[in-house]
Amino acid sequence: MAIAPRAEQYQKLLTLFKQMQDISLKIQTLLESENPHQDALKILKSETSFDGVQYWSLPPSKTSARLEAFASEYQNVAELGHQLTPSDPILAYVFQTKKNLILETIPHEVKSTSPIVSEGTKSILAMPVLQNFELMGVLIVERKSQGNFDELDVQFLEFITQQLVSLFLNQQLFLDQKAFSKKLQSAVQEKTLELRRAHERILENQKVLQKENKALKSIVELDRRDQDFIGNSPAIKQVLSMVEKVAPTSATVLILGESGTGKELIARQIHFQSDRKNAPFVTLNCAALQESLLESELFGHEKGSFTGALHQKMGLCESADGGTLFLDEIGEMSLSIQTKLLRFLQEGEFYRIGGKRPIQVNVRIISATNRDLAEEVKSSRFREDLYYRLNTITLKLPPLRARKEDIPALCEYYLKHSKFGGVSHVKKIDSRVIDVFLTYEWPGNIRELQNTMERLKILVEDTEIKLDDIPMAMRLPKESANLTHFHVETPLDDIEKAHILRSLAFHQGNKTRTAQSLGITIKTLYNKLHRYGALGGGAEEPSSSLSH
Ligand SMILES: Nc1ncnc2c1ncn2[C@@H]1O[C@H](COP(=O)(O)OP(=O)(O)OP(=O)(O)O)[C@@H](O)[C@H]1O
Ligand SMILES: [Mg+2]
Repeated sequence: MAIAPRAEQYQKLLTLFKQMQDISLKIQTLLESENPHQDALKILKSETSFDGVQYWSLPPSKTSARLEAFASEYQNVAELGHQLTPSDPILAYVFQTKKNLILETIPHEVKSTSPIVSEGTKSILAMPVLQNFELMGVLIVERKSQGNFDELDVQFLEFITQQLVSLFLNQQLFLDQKAFSKKLQSAVQEKTLELRRAHERILENQKVLQKENKALKSIVELDRRDQDFIGNSPAIKQVLSMVEKVAPTSATVLILGESGTGKELIARQIHFQSDRKNAPFVTLNCAALQESLLESELFGHEKGSFTGALHQKMGLCESADGGTLFLDEIGEMSLSIQTKLLRFLQEGEFYRIGGKRPIQVNVRIISATNRDLAEEVKSSRFREDLYYRLNTITLKLPPLRARKEDIPALCEYYLKHSKFGGVSHVKKIDSRVIDVFLTYEWPGNIRELQNTMERLKILVEDTEIKLDDIPMAMRLPKESANLTHFHVETPLDDIEKAHILRSLAFHQGNKTRTAQSLGITIKTLYNKLHRYGALGGGAEEPSSSLSH
């Protein structure tokens, strides 16, 4: 007889364990539930024999409790969200003691005042839901029968309460994590978008740079192609054969010659005939910059190395790496920069202004000057050691007057090629113009000839440059400039001719004023000029030139 109740007890325990296991498993699936309180209570109600369950949550302020969820067979007295003061007789006990309250029967005054008690409830168990000894809420279990809660019920519900606390906490963590992930995701998206925009901007800039680069390259190409070298005279042939010999070496070259003789052009010839031709040819005009700027241009500077050095700057020595650095007008370089240049030539390395790290480059130096550099050395304006470093090879360019044979070819060349571009309407040059050019001294050398041709191509209206188009001063015979030179045999006619041409030059070709100053009529002046061959076509009438 004693076995039956024990078997019953055992059976009850088994059922209870099974229930606990099932409920626990089901509660664990509620992590992503939108209403975990309500869903958990539904599970509790459906898996147990309780007739009603309620969960009242308690906010941190603990001023009132709120009906968070319920699952019940009764018509519930309170609605979801109902707020209840802690003075409610059922809650008050749990709040104060943090202990279970079991009402085997419900006293009338409790039934009439507490909305927790539903219609038809005969007994109630109120259990505190605690987290770290802090009250989070109260779980209420109701039964239709009286006095029906035993120790097993209490143990079971305490287990379930712990499961609920874990669920609520995990869900809070889960929601926080989710919100954080969402925030993170949108931040990542925003950054991705920013990066994409920056990338697009970089691509855009790159395109602009590529375009610029292409344009610059084509200018450089043009520059290279435009650099035809005209000249077949023995003097120039000698220079060109030297260029051929020195170009393939890395020897420093010093180019001497009067202004406009083609020193820079020869420097380019050397570079483009060397195996450095695909590397940069960089020119620095030493006369164009004041000392401090010249040093920074040559060697570069570090950011902040002097007032105004806002960015790091690469010097031309670095830009020319692998190629040629052409130092034009080297005679104008100050002694202090000469010292730095000498150190660079001796050691093959230099420092940017304000820089601590030596920079090594492979640069060939070609320099040029129209000064007599040996004389500059003698008078201590140029360092002797630098002079010898620079002039491993010296090329001396002849003035144009010493290679007059090249004048016709140069004229032909400038007739077809303009430094301003475009095609000129002028196609021919009268041979008498060339004759005059051959007698002229060209103190400005090839540059003067080039400029004269450019000017004529613009001013001459005809398609041919005629004698009358060229400046009178050029047409004067050399000896006419020197009347003081007395020879007793000089014929009077020659003296007259020289005097007339000299007066004409004095009046800058103005025939009216020349005639007036000589005290002759303009017709007489024309007749005489015609006789001397000093009038273009010779058929010109006085009246047509009165505009002079
Ligand atoms: N042999 C040549 N054939 C064609 N053009 C030439 C020749 N020599 C020089 N030139 C042209 O003459 C002009 C002057 O030449 P360049 O600038 O090389 O002279 P430079 O000796 O460096 O003069 P400066 O001493 O004044 O700097 C340039 O426009 C150049 O293209
Ligand atoms: Mg020059």
